[in-house]
Amino acid sequence: MSVIHRAAITGVEHYFPEKILSNADMEKLVDTSDEWIRTRTGIEKRRRVSPGQASSDLACKAITKLLKKKKMAAKDIELIIVATVTPDMMFPSTACRIQEKMAATHAWGFDLSAACSGFVFALATADQFISSGRYKNALVVGVDVMSSIIDDHDRNTCVLFGDGCGVALLQPEPEASSLGILDHLCHIDGKGGEFLYMPGGGSLYGTSSDTLSKNMHVVHQEGKQVFKHAVTEMARVSEEILEKNNLSSEDIDYFIPHQANLRIIESCQKKLKLKDDQVIVNIKDFANTTSATIPTCMSQAVDDKKIKKGDLVLIASFGAGFTWGASLIRWAF
Ligand code: UT7
Repeated sequence: MSVIHRAAITGVEHYFPEKILSNADMEKLVDTSDEWIRTRTGIEKRRRVSPGQASSDLACKAITKLLKKKKMAAKDIELIIVATVTPDMMFPSTACRIQEKMAATHAWGFDLSAACSGFVFALATADQFISSGRYKNALVVGVDVMSSIIDDHDRNTCVLFGDGCGVALLQPEPEASSLGILDHLCHIDGKGGEFLYMPGGGSLYGTSSDTLSKNMHVVHQEGKQVFKHAVTEMARVSEEILEKNNLSSEDIDYFIPHQANLRIIESCQKKLKLKDDQVIVNIKDFANTTSATIPTCMSQAVDDKKIKKGDLVLIASFGAGFTWGASLIRWAF
């Protein structure tokens, strides 16, 4: 990949809402069991927003912590890209709402919809703005309030998801630096659309009493189909990006996969021949937070002093669309 200035992630932060729902709490909502959820998914609990708390609110909490850590003012931010499938509203964009709430008066931005691959796609997008030399400070936000589009009576989906936000600051590296974002691979295949989707509320099925009575404003998933493709494609795209950059899995310090199911993560780990301590996992405590899984894992791994400057980090995602992708990052701080 030829670049003018390599973009680097120079800061990460995360925020999870305070309310915790354990598997025992889910047992009170639907016909499920702690044992089923743990053994089939690896999930033990998830976070939920309180009434009135939206994606932009979670994002502002994470961004405020990040700016404080970086000793930056909100007006230093030039670009805000928000990966989400749960925007505050259909429009204006959540990027606009965050810009206003943060008083990031010099920033423009937009929302990006790629479901669970949202953060990987948004990172690849922001990378272009930084590596072109035109921007110096970009925020990539991965945020989802999945509880706003989940049917708490559907055991097939309600146990799987949580709410949360992770944010990364992208800045240019000095020209000779070997640190920063090395490469991305992003893929989509619309044939997968029928297996994971929310049909209502868009231009195809605008909100009506009919769409409401048919429960079309919540997530619908054929779990087995998604599982099968996730296992194959997340491992394949990881192998693909390593091979393209003449690297092997032994060169990777940390692998951060999308957190949809611990069995998917373990299967990818096995295919990539990675050891347990190379793989970052937070699904047990936070479930599948869609766009937020990878940046929250990144931020927690930095806080835990696992990921450090110079480490080679591989991230990989798979989600509705289907969408999938990977990025290789030489950690810069
Ligand atoms: O992040 C976006 C991408 N999403 C994913 O990657 C998710 C991928 N899929 C998965 O993680 C798994 O397919 C699930 C966790 C969703 C489901 O696991 P599974 O092993 O594929 O189970 P299944 O859907 O085949 O269901 C097996 C049984 C069914 O019962 P019958 O028909 O065999 O009697 C389900 O009704 O488990 C039942 N079941 C449940 N039982 C207790 C489904 N959900 C539950 C539940 N509690 N919550």
